[in-house]
Amino acid sequence: MKPLILIGYMGSGKSTIGKKLSSDLKYILFDTDALIEENEGRTINNIFATDGEEYFRNLETELLKDYIKKDKQDIIISTGGGMPVREENASLMRKLGTVIYFRATPETIYQRIKNDTSRPLLKCDDPLAKIKDMIAMRGPKYEACAHHIIDVDGKSIESVVEEIKNEIISN
Ligand code: S3P
Repeated sequence: MKPLILIGYMGSGKSTIGKKLSSDLKYILFDTDALIEENEGRTINNIFATDGEEYFRNLETELLKDYIKKDKQDIIISTGGGMPVREENASLMRKLGTVIYFRATPETIYQRIKNDTSRPLLKCDDPLAKIKDMIAMRGPKYEACAHHIIDVDGKSIESVVEEIKNEIISN
């Protein structure tokens, strides 16, 4: 089966759902944020602070190009929340595999990530307002990139995983 690519805003569940799906399906999971941190030998916070967002976005694009070259099957790629914002990344992902968007409201996201300090873009005085603005801007890009959209508000990890297995993988 061609790669499953998980997209969505920070805190939408890409990593957690990716882990459960990979153990259920026996697909290898790749997490683009983790790979970038590993390749660079530093945290995303550090990359943003030292080299800026544009540098980080270039690393994301390079990773996708690498996957296209490798042409792997039976893998899951969990992406950073900003991956589909670049037009080029969105078309690389659609070419690479089946893209699944985990759509969540700003309130759901805020509840999930309000105590997490690992996201440089949410270090601000009013994170909820920032989340609302960013989702308003990114929502159409996520939707345009996705082959499938799953609304995750109020759903457990298990139920989202079941939805993917029943409605996407079995078809
Ligand atoms: C980002 C999301 C983060 C990480 C970076 C930028 C974004 O990934 O790539 O902090 O622009 O939305 P997660 O969605 O895994 O938190």
